[in-house]
Amino acid sequence: MKYKDLYQNSINDKSSFWKEQAALLDWFQFPTNIITETEENIYSWYADGITNMSYLCLDYHIKNGRGDQFALIYDSPVTNTIKKYTYNQLLQEVEAFAGALKNLDIHKGDTVVIYLPMIPEAAIAMLACARIGAIHSVVFGGFAPHELALRIEDALPKAIISASYGIEGAKKIPYKPLVDRAIEESEFKPPYKIYVQREENFDTLNHQDELDFHQISKNATPAKYTPVDSTHPLYILYTSGTTGKPKGIVRDTGGYATALKFSMGAIYDIHAGEVFWAASDVGWVVGHSYIVYGPLLQGCTTILFEGKPIGTPDAGVFWRIIEEHKVKTLFTAPTAIRAIKKEDPEGELYKKYDLSHFNSLFLAGERCDPPTYHWVKELINRPVVDHWWQTESGWPMLGIPMGIEQYPTKAGSAGLPICGFDIQILDEEGLPHEPNKEGIVVVKLPLPPGCLPTLWKNTPRYKKEYLNAFPGYYLTGDGGYKDAEGYTFIMGRIDDVINVSGHRLSTGEMEEIVAGHSAVAECAVVGIADELRGQRPIGFIVVKNGISFENQALENEIIQLVRDQIGAIAFLKNVYIVKRLPKTRSGKILRKTMRAIADGIPFTIPSTIDDPTILDEIKETLNS
Ligand code: COA
Ligand code: AMP
Repeated sequence: MKYKDLYQNSINDKSSFWKEQAALLDWFQFPTNIITETEENIYSWYADGITNMSYLCLDYHIKNGRGDQFALIYDSPVTNTIKKYTYNQLLQEVEAFAGALKNLDIHKGDTVVIYLPMIPEAAIAMLACARIGAIHSVVFGGFAPHELALRIEDALPKAIISASYGIEGAKKIPYKPLVDRAIEESEFKPPYKIYVQREENFDTLNHQDELDFHQISKNATPAKYTPVDSTHPLYILYTSGTTGKPKGIVRDTGGYATALKFSMGAIYDIHAGEVFWAASDVGWVVGHSYIVYGPLLQGCTTILFEGKPIGTPDAGVFWRIIEEHKVKTLFTAPTAIRAIKKEDPEGELYKKYDLSHFNSLFLAGERCDPPTYHWVKELINRPVVDHWWQTESGWPMLGIPMGIEQYPTKAGSAGLPICGFDIQILDEEGLPHEPNKEGIVVVKLPLPPGCLPTLWKNTPRYKKEYLNAFPGYYLTGDGGYKDAEGYTFIMGRIDDVINVSGHRLSTGEMEEIVAGHSAVAECAVVGIADELRGQRPIGFIVVKNGISFENQALENEIIQLVRDQIGAIAFLKNVYIVKRLPKTRSGKILRKTMRAIADGIPFTIPSTIDDPTILDEIKETLNS
């Protein structure tokens, strides 16, 4: 069946469509309830199905003759290491570590925080948790202790799994001091801390509750998979919202497995035995879905890359890996392509490699701007597919379903709706917009399998943030438009979330941190356009009366504060001291207008503005 019919089918007859997709998995008990509305507008998929994600990703393939095929290739230019794991070997590691977790009295329903760099143990730890029904929560290694502490306090993990260090370019970033600081800050203290020792005796594990990852695995009895309900949470992944408290996105097991399996074939056109590479980080949703679970569910070989698109050692590293490991499909963020383009504008490094296996490039994490799209398309002369999704959805909502029908791509558009997603563009009143008119992007409920069923222990917040704005629809937080052919263009967030180098961050949270400085009376942080990173934050502060300060020193303190609390990835490099912030007469800060001034784009002065002369002051400050 071709895309349009299949898509219509997925919207008009959800139950049959998703029953058929679920049948492609090897369930312990096949579900009879395909979709259930448990509460108004809250749905669960495959409620009476029984499964296990680690079984589906590993044991199932071994049973079907893939034991000696490579499951995972760890390629780390920063340590000069390439290590390959067959399905048999990966299962052995996973079973052993799962056994070790059980020895620590960690079982089905317990939570485990994983704070690891891009090393194989990250995937092993995730699959080991899945194996015993423990719920993992991976925290991106670039987050500072405060962010880790927030997640520990919400997830209440029985253990935290970390490593000696991460590697950023040439520098080692020790993780244990970061974990220690996070635990000190957190009111909840995880009973166990488990470290992957990347070098002998790098960490001093002083206490009984500080354990060596490999040592405890060596001494453990391999653990068999634990059957779990389809609705059992596989993981919690915290993502930035509009406040300082991150949102714990919950992912179920059976719905997610079904959706990922479908996406591997239908969207990425990738099949068992082929090599798939998502050049992201396990700390982000892309890493969960397309470094670990998706490719393994499909019986592929996945690449776990510890490096950067440039500088490790050069802008040819992506092409080297595609050649060396025979990658069919690469998935990365546009910012990585922009970085490569900047270093190697003529694509000289690209030409050095034999890329005959390379089939297509998928981009997500932020909008692929047309100049980047055209540059890379010309360079690789293969399909370049921008596709759109979010931590919440768990898998793509828009894209070109390359495995169903290879529709043409359009520069600047994230493509067509993926099966199961009824995407609409509404105005502020909730009425549908005509084609080509920008509005609020929503998805008609119910969301297909794989999407968040709720927020971790916080269904009221789930309803408030996603369901209440437009009854019957899920609010994506993005703005955009559809053209007459149904291609959708996602133009950016309509809330206080920004994307810096493909990393999702909250300007609302940054404001809370900046406002916490003793000299700050009020502040605003807005995301402005950045040529390499897509967006970056800049801050404006008004200093309290009667405080004496030196401009540069105060600005540096604020920058350091955000770096300490969120991490270097926040990339707040400019803070401006202003006398006043522009506001509406009712006191709302005009962030959108400030952003337009900083970006140098035309804007209309809001009719509700209290004092328009402040806009000139902002302009002068930015120009000075
Ligand atoms: N751990 C610790 N620190 C980290 C980190 C991590 N995992 N990741 C980034 N940082 C730090 C960097 O060291 C840097 O610190 P510095 O200010 O002390 O130099 C800071 O955060 C900013 O890093 P980054 O934004 O990565 O800038 P960069 O100049 O090092 O690299 C890119 C720029 C574009 C090459 C890089 O951001 C990149 O590869 N982006 C793609 C990201 C991606 O794939 N996202 C996918 C999401 S789907
Ligand atoms: P995250 O939850 O980190 O995956 O970030 C999700 C957000 O990134 C989305 O809500 C969008 O704002 C943005 N995003 C991701 N992919 C795209 C894309 N292809 N085009 C436009 N925006 C995107």
